[in-house]
Amino acid sequence: MSAVQIAFDQWLQASVEHTESVLDELLPAVDEGPARLHEAMRYAVLGPGKRVRAALVHAAGEASLQAGSAATAQELALDYAAAAVELIHAYSLVHDDLPCMDDDDLRRGRPTVHRQFDEALAMLAGDALQPLAFDLLAQMPIAPALTVQAVQLLARSAGSFGMAGGQAIDCESVGHSLPIEELQRMHRMKTGAMLEASVLLGGIVAGAGSTVREGLEAYAGAIGLAFQVVDDILDVTGDTATLGKTAGKDAASAKPTYVSVMGLEGSRALLDALREQAHEALRPLGPSACRLRELADFIVGRSH
Ligand code: IPE
Ligand code: IPE
Ligand code: MG
Ligand code: MG
Ligand code: MG
Repeated sequence: MSAVQIAFDQWLQASVEHTESVLDELLPAVDEGPARLHEAMRYAVLGPGKRVRAALVHAAGEASLQAGSAATAQELALDYAAAAVELIHAYSLVHDDLPCMDDDDLRRGRPTVHRQFDEALAMLAGDALQPLAFDLLAQMPIAPALTVQAVQLLARSAGSFGMAGGQAIDCESVGHSLPIEELQRMHRMKTGAMLEASVLLGGIVAGAGSTVREGLEAYAGAIGLAFQVVDDILDVTGDTATLGKTAGKDAASAKPTYVSVMGLEGSRALLDALREQAHEALRPLGPSACRLRELADFIVGRSH
């Protein structure tokens, strides 16, 4: 780690810009056919997202490196891994917004993909973003055994035991009041799984040993759940302009959320506990995990 650290907000801004330029480069160009599908894919990914998952990949990579700074091949592999999680995340948002799911018109301050294009293209853009993520992981210039671990982790995190499974539970829970254990399971799957994957991918790419991996796993579990608890709170307390998506949708759609089950105060108390857990988990990792600590605070304290 360098002696002089830039402030967290500058670090995050640089990470966002870097991730967006990597994504811009790696996404298919619009002048290559099928042009409208490529246009929809680029629209879905390149809108103004927070890029938290990409930042987690890089921060976990930094926390896991033995010698303190990454070799060029590792930097490139972290870029591919960060882009891969952002592609899966973007696909999950496109499908989440479809009329057959949350039926949303606004995302990242712009019309959702099915509104800007049409439903078939929204479905297909999601379909095409998902395999592109795995294509990127396959190109990581690291030991093949680590690539296999990364591919399996992302596949499981996005699949029926992870994000897609959580989304299925979300769909069948509309109108029901879930017990807190069930709600937690749904949130850990639909949202936590991809945030956990982001942290663990950084560790895999940077060759983290077992102690570091254990710390990363405990950290990732806490911030993964915290992320969706904050999302539930912001749906109630945020406004549409700041969120870039329609506020108040969860109550209007009768979705069970942490706010509906625990109230705002209970949800905020849980967030304090999760932030504490995340910091505690990083204790054995020392100063190299400082960006992960700051990201936990950012996730809990964010306003959109
Ligand atoms: C929104 O994710 C969907 C959830 C999983 C809660 P983000 O809040 O990370 O959305 P972007 O990427 O910044 O738009
Ligand atoms: C979405 O949860 C989780 C995903 C896997 C996309 P939400 O439905 O609460 O996300 P937003 O509020 O639409 O961003
Ligand atoms: Mg949803
Ligand atoms: Mg939604
Ligand atoms: Mg939400």
